[in-house]
Amino acid sequence: MVGYDWAKEMKEFDSTKAGVKGLADAALSEIPKLFIHSPEFLHSNPILKPTDAGDAQLDLPTIDFQGVAEEQGRRQVVVEEIRKAAQEWGFFRIVNHGIPLETMDAMLDATKLFHEQPTEEKKPFYSSDSSRRVKFNSNLPVLENNAACWRDVLSCVFLDDQLDPQDLPSACRKEVQEYVKYMIELREVMAELLSEALGLPSDHLSNIECMKSQALACNYYPKCPQPHKTIGSSKHSDTTFLTLLMQDSIGGLQILHNDEWMDVPAARGALIANIGDLMQIISNDRFISVEHRVVAQSVQRVSVASFFTPSLKAMGKPFEPIKELLSHENPALYREFLFREYCEHYKTKFQGVTSAKPHYKIR
Ligand code: OGA
Ligand code: NI
Repeated sequence: MVGYDWAKEMKEFDSTKAGVKGLADAALSEIPKLFIHSPEFLHSNPILKPTDAGDAQLDLPTIDFQGVAEEQGRRQVVVEEIRKAAQEWGFFRIVNHGIPLETMDAMLDATKLFHEQPTEEKKPFYSSDSSRRVKFNSNLPVLENNAACWRDVLSCVFLDDQLDPQDLPSACRKEVQEYVKYMIELREVMAELLSEALGLPSDHLSNIECMKSQALACNYYPKCPQPHKTIGSSKHSDTTFLTLLMQDSIGGLQILHNDEWMDVPAARGALIANIGDLMQIISNDRFISVEHRVVAQSVQRVSVASFFTPSLKAMGKPFEPIKELLSHENPALYREFLFREYCEHYKTKFQGVTSAKPHYKIR
């Protein structure tokens, strides 16, 4: 984009500390140039709409967790469904996961409440300091001339499941604590099921402490006056081991499946699980971390993502493809690396890379 001062626009926007919501409130008819993306990054592919296509096979796999803890037969079916979905889609929907609908609704409402507060209330949290556990920002690009996304995020990082509740904004403190409690329980279930789906003992992933920390991203995508010129979240794969996402009734998430963008329609009460880059690496590509994005829309949308990453204790331990999954015919595709090193990679390059996988790839 030529003919405008990127650095100046960035600085001006950043200094408002009002996020994209501030722009939406100003009721502009045109969005600032900073937010305009090149057409090739927008709706370049035809969008497959599974609900319109009339082809049930095109819809994201939905896995019903009912009875998974009590009935061995059910558990085997679920493990097999997870294995297939994690291999072929990298994404799946979970229903009957045990999280009460009221808890989910309260978390979505609290996200909205936080972001819709007056700017003055949100300002103390506005920061791009990666060491801050609780912060609000708009994920601005770090690379010069890159476009910004039409989204604000409140992130709350629970290292080894711990975060002082007093650090949380009062607008959503109670709801975040309650929701995170359930996310931790579900994370334990997922660690067992994913271990079993890899053909490993149930406690394998729990033992390597690869998902013991949680970053909660409370995403707010304000209504956009020119949704076709920008994007809510550009194409990326998650850097995590596992992500559990809850979206409201609006929809807008798209995943890249068989080289085509596909809508993931909202389904009340369901959660969306997706495999992150770290899981793809340690599973030696058995499970796939799939690229996804969020479109900008003329209506506002909220979503809450729980990103599961290693325990603090695992910071100094190397991660590498799980030995039990390797053989002469199936050699390691990635080298070993420290999680600390992996984080540094993202900190310096985050906006410029869509994935760290190639960095560790050896075959
Ligand atoms: C993310 C993400 C999707 C959504 O935060 O990494 O992909 O629907 N969010 O908000
Ligand atoms: Ni994501």
